[in-house]
Amino acid sequence: MLRVAVVGSGPSGCYTAQSLVRLDSEVRVDVLDRLPCPYGLVRYGVAPDHEKIKSLQNNLRAVLEHERVRFLGGVQIGPGGVTVGRLRELYHAVVYCVGAATDRHLGVPGEDLPGSWSATQFVSWYSAHPDAEDAGFLRDARSAVVIGVGNVAVDVTRMLARGLAELTSTDMPQAALTTLADSRVTEIHMVGRRGPSQARFTTKELRELGTLPETDVVVDPAELALDPGYTDPSALPAPQRRNIEVLRGWAGTPPKGAPRRIHLRFFLRPAELLAERGHVGAVWFERTVPDGQGGVTGTGRHEVIEGQLVLRSVGYRGVPLEGLPFDPATGTVPNLSGRVLREGAVAPGEYVAGWIKRGPTGVIGTNRPCAKETATSLLEDAPVLAVRAVPGGDPLPALRAAGADPVEWPGWQSIERAEAELGASLGRGVVKLPDWPSLLKAAAGKAP
Ligand SMILES: Cc1cc2nc3c(=O)[nH]c(=O)nc-3n(C[C@H](O)[C@H](O)[C@H](O)COP(=O)(O)OP(=O)(O)OC[C@H]3O[C@@H](n4cnc5c(N)ncnc54)[C@H](O)[C@@H]3O)c2cc1C
Ligand SMILES: NC(=O)c1ccc[n+]([C@@H]2O[C@H](COP(=O)([O-])OP(=O)(O)OC[C@H]3O[C@@H](n4cnc5c(N)ncnc54)[C@H](OP(=O)(O)O)[C@@H]3O)[C@@H](O)[C@H]2O)c1
Repeated sequence: MLRVAVVGSGPSGCYTAQSLVRLDSEVRVDVLDRLPCPYGLVRYGVAPDHEKIKSLQNNLRAVLEHERVRFLGGVQIGPGGVTVGRLRELYHAVVYCVGAATDRHLGVPGEDLPGSWSATQFVSWYSAHPDAEDAGFLRDARSAVVIGVGNVAVDVTRMLARGLAELTSTDMPQAALTTLADSRVTEIHMVGRRGPSQARFTTKELRELGTLPETDVVVDPAELALDPGYTDPSALPAPQRRNIEVLRGWAGTPPKGAPRRIHLRFFLRPAELLAERGHVGAVWFERTVPDGQGGVTGTGRHEVIEGQLVLRSVGYRGVPLEGLPFDPATGTVPNLSGRVLREGAVAPGEYVAGWIKRGPTGVIGTNRPCAKETATSLLEDAPVLAVRAVPGGDPLPALRAAGADPVEWPGWQSIERAEAELGASLGRGVVKLPDWPSLLKAAAGKAP
């Protein structure tokens, strides 16, 4: 019998556990997560108004409830918790599925001004991540600038444009709901440094912006016309062609005069965030033009866009875990088909899956084949791993001795009950608990 620890209970961790128990009837898997709650970015990233995608949590739940899979929340691996070395001693194999927890930097002056936040911080706040701070994101903001044109940029743009009526039914924490409902932001600028045919958002997500009540979507036809794909969209791959078609439709439609506007801007590269009384007040962009090879070149011309709130949505980034190799250039753990490479050689018994293996791109479903590849590599190595001496019996006491105080499945179910009760008391559906004390209290079965 093989005992495997999977670190991280997001999609890649859950799909790895699922593949392992499906492919081998002898494997037992502990899925460890530093948070008391499972599901990674499906709980703490997927936008609250995307209830259908959120409901994928039910599929992941079925994995964690499998008889040979056990969820152990509140177990930090690395500094301040169980070390990578100790974990390796307790299990035949360890699979790291720790995601990409931080944001990429812009590297322009003013990036760290008050009022300039990463999309990661904003998303974590409205998703009730217990490490998130209420930074007063919308305080005194009338205009917001979202830098980047990926799906996360679309998410945060949409959340800024949504009102109380649409947010009440979500599981968003009450404080974030109140703040967003009281928002005075009327102008939201989502800005790409390249052209519309190079934007990373997908058409379904883009199109949804046009369905928001009380919101106009404004597209400048002159910016579309700069894009070589605009004049001949037939030459583009289908997803980009569809994006261009949607943008073209908006560019040709006069605004309805709605109280809020989403401005979709292109060919503007952020050059500096400008301060106004010690707080961000605007972003200074350089106008770019296509370089004919999919990139852009600067023109030396500039444009200032007002924004008392700036959300930098330029991608996520993996963080190194002490004791594991890390490639700072890609923000991933070097690996061969999921087998961790230490100084170029396979490290038997150590594996990776998901964003820490491939980098921070891909939807939830992308993690399924990725996890299967890793599980297959692990099971190919099983004959070698099985002869390794690991302490007999359940590793749980040893994890406790190493300082962990795991939240087991009944603890997580108590959190779910507490969130349902909180929602009922507020006249809403499930409402997430937003901080460590209330989560840990609920996990212990105490009233929050
Ligand atoms: C804001 C946002 C919105 C998204 N929305 C969608 C969407 O609508 N639809 C879609 O298909 N895809 C969406 N995605 C993409 C999708 O969420 C990712 O593809 C997926 O979550 C990556 O899975 P993962 O398991 O690698 O990482 P994660 O989901 O990040 O899971 C990593 C887990 O590891 C845990 N962990 C990290 N470090 C440690 C440690 N040291 N010890 C113990 N545990 C640790 C974390 O707590 C976390 O639970 C979104 C992504 C983002 C960022
Ligand atoms: N609903 C969904 O399905 C959903 C929702 C959210 C996230 N996701 C997925 O999660 C993954 C991560 O999404 P993401 O939006 O964080 O990343 P992303 O898709 O990689 O988009 C990042 C954006 O930031 C821009 N950018 C990067 N560096 C920049 C810089 N220095 N200055 C200006 N712009 C810069 C990129 O432009 P360039 O292209 O020019 O580099 C791009 O527009 C994606 O695979 C996404 O599809 C899916």
